[in-house]
Amino acid sequence: MKPLNVLLLDCSPRRGFSTSRHLTEQLLPALPAPSGQEIRVTKRNLGTEPLPAITASYAESLLLPVAEAKESHGAALALSDALIEELEQADMLWISTPVYNFTVPAVLKNWIDLVVRRDVTFVNTAEGKVGLLRDRPTFVAVTSGGAMFRDPPVQPDFFRPYLTAVLGVIGLKDIRFTHATGLAFAEVPRFAIEDQAARWLSEGALL
Ligand SMILES: Cc1cc2nc3c(=O)[nH]c(=O)nc-3n(C[C@H](O)[C@H](O)[C@H](O)COP(=O)(O)O)c2cc1C
Repeated sequence: MKPLNVLLLDCSPRRGFSTSRHLTEQLLPALPAPSGQEIRVTKRNLGTEPLPAITASYAESLLLPVAEAKESHGAALALSDALIEELEQADMLWISTPVYNFTVPAVLKNWIDLVVRRDVTFVNTAEGKVGLLRDRPTFVAVTSGGAMFRDPPVQPDFFRPYLTAVLGVIGLKDIRFTHATGLAFAEVPRFAIEDQAARWLSEGALL
């Protein structure tokens, strides 16, 4: 049986003490494969091996029709092509990340800038941008030091609306957020993460 391919974007620059990685370690292994397939994870360590920010050549290429862009800026598009292909191969996207300054870390933004490409992953129409990728489940395991995602809000949330909008542009609409927050105030952050992860699992967040 074909395995279920999960593309994991790991966005923390921290290694052993990363809270977002710990949250993902609690949740991802509990992922139920729809028909009992083996789960195969392809990991992009965006936090510890950051992608380069976009270049002038890449930005210029986005102004041109696709064929012309390939001809004159092919080298600058190679990384973007590879990342889009990697996403295309995935049955599921898993984003493991901290909140930085109320939104996504720059390393995740760099991935987004390389993957959201006119006439490749979305098209402009009179009604706005329309995604060209097939939808697939996207899980976001996100941690924060402070009180993010409270109702009423304690910190502004540019994280969930931004990711929802930008992934929606390329066709990824099925996005589920799980979070562990307030970790700067936890006596033992690992335990707080494990408690919050257990709660998400008991609420069926991965189903
Ligand atoms: C540059 C930076 C910006 C941050 N901004 C926020 C923020 O806006 N709100 C918040 O609650 N925590 C913020 N934090 C705290 C992190 O979200 C928190 O430490 C998180 O647990 C880190 O995840 P990690 O251990 O996986 O790297 C920030 C941390 C850093 C380093």
